[in-house]
This record gives sequence, structure tokens and C-alpha cells, in this order.
Amino acid sequence: MRAGGRLRYRDPRGVLHISVRPCSPSPAPVIAAKEPFAVELKAGQKYGWCACGHSRRQPFCDGTHKKAAPGISPLRFVAEEDKTVWLCGCKQTRTPPYCDGTHKTEAVQSARLPPNP
Ligand code: FES
Repeated sequence: MRAGGRLRYRDPRGVLHISVRPCSPSPAPVIAAKEPFAVELKAGQKYGWCACGHSRRQPFCDGTHKKAAPGISPLRFVAEEDKTVWLCGCKQTRTPPYCDGTHKTEAVQSARLPPNP
């Protein structure tokens, strides 16, 4: 559902996703990692998955997108249950914030990672 520029939906796991779509074309995200991150989600807790790849707190947002990728916003969601999930680290998934295996492609595996700070 779209309302006021926000996209809200529940995925098949029941997790509520809220994202804000920018009006102008977004810059492309950078590949933060070539594999997903196993994360223990806590029911009722809010999370902000880094969609730009610039965060130093992967897979979560640390606000770096405001300067490094102003057209990309984090994907905010609320966990419906305590659960361990695989959150995408390559930022190329088609099922954000979850890994869909896209990181196994040659394009991701041969990509150069940004330098560590
Ligand atoms: S880490 Fe991005 S699709 Fe798996």
C-alpha cells in the first residue's frame, strides 16, 4: 500500500515494512558484503536495514546515507516474532531486507568492496 510517498506492506513472514520512496532517481547502492548477515530479530523491535551499503554498522543503517547516498533511505521494519533471519549484505536482493541468493552471482562475487574505515 502506498500512502503519502510511503510504501507499507507485510511480507509472507508477517513482518511490516515501511519505506519512503524518493521523488528523484536514486543512486545505486554499493555492495557492503558478499554474503548475508545472520541476525536475531526481537519481536516488536524496530529495525532500519541499510539499503545504500555505506553504513559501518552493517546490515543496519547508521545514517551515512544522508551524505553518501542521499537518494536512498533505509528500509524500516518491525519484527513480528523472535527469529533469526539472513539480512542481505550485498544490497542487490530482490526481497529486501532478506537475502535471496543474489550475492552468489558473478556480478556480486567479482565486485570490489569499499575500503574498511
Ligand atoms: S547477501 Fe544480498 S542477496 Fe544474499
